[in-house]
Amino acid sequence: MSDTGTETGTETRSSPETRTGTETDPRTGTGTETRSSPETRTGTGTETRSSPETGSGPGTRSSPETRTGTGTETCSSPETGSGPGTRSSPETRSSPETGSGPGTRSGSDPLILFVNGKKIVEKDPDPETTLLTYLRRKLGLTGTKLGCAEGGCGACTVMVSRYQAHQLLHYAVNACLAPLCSLHLVAVTTVEGIGSVAQKLHPVQERIARAHGSQCGFCTPGIVMSMYALLRNNPTPRMTELEEAFQGNLCRCTGYRPILEGYKTLTVEGGCCGGRGRENGCCMSNGNGAERSSEEDVDEATPLFNTSDFAPLDPTQEVIFPPELMSLTKGQKSRSLCFRGNRVTWLQPDSLEEFLLLKWKNPEARVVTGNTEVGIEVKFKNLLYPVILCPSFVSELNSVTHTDDGVVFGASCTLSHMGAVLKQAVDTLPPHQTEVFLAVLEQLRWFAGKQIRNVAAVGGNIMTASPISDLNPVFMAAGCRLTLMDKDGSRVVQMNDSFFTGYRRTILRPQEILVSIEIPYSQRTQFVSAFKQSPRREDDISIVTAAMSVTFAPGTNIVQDLRLSYGGMAATTVLATKTANSLLGRCWEEELLQVACSSLAEEMTLDASVPGGMVTYRRTLTLSLFYKFYLTVLQKLRQQGVNVDEVRSDCVSATEIYHPETPSSVQIYQAVPEGQSQDNVVGRPVMHLSAMKQATGEAVYCDDVPLYENELYLSLITSSKAHARIISIDTSAAESLPGVVCCVFAEDIPGSNVTGAVVYDETVLADREVTCVGHVIGAVVADTQLRAQRAAKAVKIEYEELQPIVTIQEAIAAQSFYEPIRSIQKGELEAGFKQADHIQEGEIHMGGQEHFYLETNVTLAVPRGEDGEMELFVSTQAPTKTQSLVAKALGVPANRVLVRVKRMGGGFGGKESRTTVLSTVVAVAANKLKRPVRCMLDRDEDMLITGGRHPFYGKYKVGFLNSGKVVALDVSYYSNAGNSMDLSLSVLERALFHMENSYSVANIRGRGFCCRTNLPSNTAFRGFGGPQGMMVAESWMTDVAQRVGRPAEEVRRLNLHVEGEATSYNQVLDQFTLDRCWDECLSRSDYQQRRAAIDRYNRQNRWTKRGLAIVPTTFGISFTAVFLNQAGALVHVYTDGSVLLTHGGTEMGQGLHTKMVQVASRVLDISCSKIHISETSTNTVPNTSPTAASASSDLNGAAVQNACEVLMKRLEPYKIKNPKGSWEDWVKAAYFDRVNLSANGFYKTPDLGYDFDTNRGRAFNYYSYGVACSEVEIDCLTGAHKNLSTTIVMDVGHSLNPAIDIGQVEGGFVQGLGLFTLEELHYSPQGVLLTRGPGSYKIPAFGDIPTDFTVSLLRDAPNDKAIFASKAVGEPPLFLAASVFYAIKDAITDARAESGISGPFRLDSPASAERIRNACSDRFTNLCGRPAEPGTFTPWSVQV
Ligand SMILES: Cc1cc2nc3c(=O)[nH]c(=O)nc-3n(C[C@H](O)[C@H](O)[C@H](O)COP(=O)(O)OP(=O)(O)OC[C@H]3O[C@@H](n4cnc5c(N)ncnc54)[C@H](O)[C@@H]3O)c2cc1C
Ligand code: FES
Ligand code: FES
Repeated sequence: MSDTGTETGTETRSSPETRTGTETDPRTGTGTETRSSPETRTGTGTETRSSPETGSGPGTRSSPETRTGTGTETCSSPETGSGPGTRSSPETRSSPETGSGPGTRSGSDPLILFVNGKKIVEKDPDPETTLLTYLRRKLGLTGTKLGCAEGGCGACTVMVSRYQAHQLLHYAVNACLAPLCSLHLVAVTTVEGIGSVAQKLHPVQERIARAHGSQCGFCTPGIVMSMYALLRNNPTPRMTELEEAFQGNLCRCTGYRPILEGYKTLTVEGGCCGGRGRENGCCMSNGNGAERSSEEDVDEATPLFNTSDFAPLDPTQEVIFPPELMSLTKGQKSRSLCFRGNRVTWLQPDSLEEFLLLKWKNPEARVVTGNTEVGIEVKFKNLLYPVILCPSFVSELNSVTHTDDGVVFGASCTLSHMGAVLKQAVDTLPPHQTEVFLAVLEQLRWFAGKQIRNVAAVGGNIMTASPISDLNPVFMAAGCRLTLMDKDGSRVVQMNDSFFTGYRRTILRPQEILVSIEIPYSQRTQFVSAFKQSPRREDDISIVTAAMSVTFAPGTNIVQDLRLSYGGMAATTVLATKTANSLLGRCWEEELLQVACSSLAEEMTLDASVPGGMVTYRRTLTLSLFYKFYLTVLQKLRQQGVNVDEVRSDCVSATEIYHPETPSSVQIYQAVPEGQSQDNVVGRPVMHLSAMKQATGEAVYCDDVPLYENELYLSLITSSKAHARIISIDTSAAESLPGVVCCVFAEDIPGSNVTGAVVYDETVLADREVTCVGHVIGAVVADTQLRAQRAAKAVKIEYEELQPIVTIQEAIAAQSFYEPIRSIQKGELEAGFKQADHIQEGEIHMGGQEHFYLETNVTLAVPRGEDGEMELFVSTQAPTKTQSLVAKALGVPANRVLVRVKRMGGGFGGKESRTTVLSTVVAVAANKLKRPVRCMLDRDEDMLITGGRHPFYGKYKVGFLNSGKVVALDVSYYSNAGNSMDLSLSVLERALFHMENSYSVANIRGRGFCCRTNLPSNTAFRGFGGPQGMMVAESWMTDVAQRVGRPAEEVRRLNLHVEGEATSYNQVLDQFTLDRCWDECLSRSDYQQRRAAIDRYNRQNRWTKRGLAIVPTTFGISFTAVFLNQAGALVHVYTDGSVLLTHGGTEMGQGLHTKMVQVASRVLDISCSKIHISETSTNTVPNTSPTAASASSDLNGAAVQNACEVLMKRLEPYKIKNPKGSWEDWVKAAYFDRVNLSANGFYKTPDLGYDFDTNRGRAFNYYSYGVACSEVEIDCLTGAHKNLSTTIVMDVGHSLNPAIDIGQVEGGFVQGLGLFTLEELHYSPQGVLLTRGPGSYKIPAFGDIPTDFTVSLLRDAPNDKAIFASKAVGEPPLFLAASVFYAIKDAITDARAESGISGPFRLDSPASAERIRNACSDRFTNLCGRPAEPGTFTPWSVQV
């Protein structure tokens, strides 16, 4: 079967390899819509699309040749060849039909924009160039980052300002989606434009840095610019506005708390707790920036940052809008514009008449306003629109008119603008008129992020005709009227079921455009509600979205008119007409509810194979949401004095609309001992050394390295099959494309094609067989990224498909395991079970997790021209591994390969071994061409290719006494390792080491199986199997508590290990602090009072339930592969006294370099400012272990200490000779005395080594302990949950740097929160990853952190086994987020009790809204029937 050229169907359907199920829609009966559709991204070949309404039919696609026309200009845009390297002859391009207006011109207009105050005249702007590419590649402004290219992460946020309608408008936008051509006569401000380390930081830059809100820093410029744009519009915002401003920004490192804390200082709330931090008022009254929960805390805590260090915000000092731009804007005569690129022409008419004429002449032209939909189609669905019509200057499309019936919005009005107008209307009009407006506003609250709402138009949302549009259901339920127009006239249509004619189709004719929408006032007896249910609240697409409108006969509860509109239940937004009709004339009472639910259950059905899956959940939601509406209307009728039943008090919470509370937090740590010198910074909350540079965009990441003059770009060719033989590869189409230099395949590898992280069981480039979707087969090298990517998609591969193994269950059935199968056993299992009063069996599946480091994998390989030398800039945690595998592939000794790592934009284990999948290929290409070659993976490629956390399936049998004391455990772990071994065995071993979590089990057996499947190889991820091991433990512990009917915390406490006890693998627990952590956590969280309050709450509420859980963690510190427990350092002291420090660890945001400088500073007894770390490189410290296993501070810290001590010894005589001298004096004296001022240091962890055969030996150097208590609230009707409170007590020994350590605790916890409650990777039964970007894969956002968040570092807990009595902290806190999972399970238990269900039940991880809702069985779930029997249908996704 061929990989390309197979698309023969309509735009909505295509061959499985390229387009399955996502362009088709949703949940529709034909599919779920993922915003950037995953399958489509593997599509091949560029598609030219004519609008569905054209006579040629939706599926007609003109061949590339038909697009040709005249025109020969060479485009200067970076994406089309202005970059370094060769440029081949310009492509011909199509020319829009000529007539009047911009389309008539033969040339291109110049585009004028201002960037950071500088005027730029772009003579040949390419409509295909995004602002982000332009900034980074053309202007060299690399502060603005690329995180996803789909508007979903905010890393690319910049501020756009324009002078319009006599006012200055400033708004945050996503540069990755903003077409350069849309920016004529605007001012763009990037992070570089507001401040710099060299000059002066802007307060928004300074505060995020000083508040420790920047770890890896890759998200930081985007967050800075969101905040900056907010302040430009409102210098004194409220916290709620700040939270709204960040809806479109993601951070994977910090856990968000420090960012909010830092920026709170710029809000009305004034940078303090707002009176919530302490019982007696505000924390600031104590003159202290840190918040305290009690008087006791006040004594313990010192702030993590000092607000008095902050420069004040002075709005008068902001960069002004360029006066020249103002005059240019005012002075422009005709605003019509035409920008011609090689493949696309951008036309921007000045008037409606001109717009209509152009559309008439170019019916296939795409209208683009915000480009938030079209941009995604072009980037990820491989579509090409040769003519773009931009109506930004057409006043009729941008106006707002208030009429007698409602408000008319021009189709190009942005959602932000629409929201502002409606808000004002709500504030001024009588409430009965604004029901529809409020429903629209409710949807807008959770519609994308601010950056998207600032540019996305209401017309764009309607015309996209997405079945999961959040606005269309409201417009339909409210009966909004649309004005459509073509050159010959206009018509007004109502938005009802006939407006949408099919998946992403409407009744509009090709020449027609949408001019405006009228949103009506509501009537006196009309009530309207809107609902959106998505996996994550903020910035997420809906699973089901709905709007409901009911009108009653005046003064009665008799239904006169009813419209129930649903999205996510069919190929279009639909009205439940049958149900609505059956309710007309009925009274709004219980009987109506029953009829409605029964009818909806019949009317709103879904096929078992429906794309998007979640069939039972989606069907249940249609009923649950109606129930919410029913209750809400009942309340409103009563308020109007109509005689209806009162809503039962225990049901009232089901009607409450979610409004997030501003988080408040407390951090507690032990201050350094009195008398510690100011210069001794160990133990102090020193700011991350790169934080300022990260906040200004000056920090250089791998892809920010300036382009080499003759540099080329590489794009990977990957498999679209999970398991197949390669029959043929046809590169002819790819090689004929402009800019393409060559293809690279296995035969181009001069050394060995065999590779692998631990065992060599992989190939650099697949040559005969592919074993996963995303398997790297080859690469295309071209002059620019866009051209390389286009060409890679044009490579045709023919496969012979083989049966894949995708899931753990399939692997078990096929006995497809990697050797060896591991086992740990202690005690007498049989005797243990005999002794037990109860035996419980159970199972749990834990889904995998995508690392989602904000910076994707990057490599830049530069051949050095002699002796086979190659220099690589790589974003990797493992420079040495990269060096050795590149050398192996190139067939050169390791000493010819230099790997350099300055910093990474996050790693989390994802850049430990899988980075070589890219770096080896890039090196091979650079070697072949003898030119520098670069590749930064796109987010979807990165997610597809590089694997993630292992999914685990755990099966257990646990024996216990009536007291809850566990006496026997037999547990089996199965991990989905994927298509190669990678680090899977070590991950599995760690899961086994953590199978008892923190509990003592006398008779225990754990077995572990690594399943060999056809998924991309799974790999290291923070916790490295530990969380999976412990998650299963907490599952059986919860079962035990439920079976014996005792409070879970008592049963957990009863089973906790004690000092001196040995683990299942016979390691004695000494310096045991877990019990202290437990007790402190119980008391800080007010556990017992909380429990009582929750019990009360749950008795009083039927449809919302609260839950509580306290969970411990015991995390072993060391690499389990003993040889990795070593580290080196190299310290040079220069004659001016400055110190260059190098060590084996890499900086990925975790603050390792900062801690190492602190260590060196203490040993050398000099200020940190004298010490510099430039990078990690294989030619300074050789044979380094990957920066992983939380042990890097321990290992590298000790090596740094060792090197510094050597130097101090050498300097000792000069200090003695000149005791009053300075460091510089001693250094100079030593130099002139010919003393070696360079020293290396080395460290290896002593006494390590565990033997699985004998179950003896020390697996770990020591343990990090922690305990977390979390409270949640679930909405039993929708499955949504709120994280109300979390208290963590963590033992990090004597913290080297409390700010960094608390950052690790919080960041790890929030990442765990994602793992256990939110993040779901969906795979098709054929092994295709369906979730490949932030649009479909949801990591926690700002709004997901606990409302009350307390982190306390255990006091007086020195650790004698690591540097300066500290402990490792990177991984251990992650598992503590399981407290949220088990709090959810606790709440579900209460919900089930309402339906008379009790006892242990299975809840798989993550506890998604779907799982929560489905577990809360009730009358609504019962009405929807049982899901289809597995095996009777092909599911959309499978549990891998
Ligand atoms: C990160 C992200 C988050 C999102 N979140 C949500 C969400 O929460 N809820 C939701 O419903 N949607 C969401 N979307 C999709 C969103 O609806 C659309 O992206 C947006 O409303 C489209 O507006 P636009 O101006 O950007 O459209 P464009 O991309 O400019 O155009 C979209 C389509 O509308 C057509 N069109 C536009 N104007 C007219 C006109 N006047 N006449 C005829 N055709 C026209 C265009 O030709 C094109 O086909 C999200 C998108 C992104 C990228
Ligand atoms: S890169 Fe633009 S939002 Fe992610
Ligand atoms: S600091 Fe936010 S992603 Fe790393």
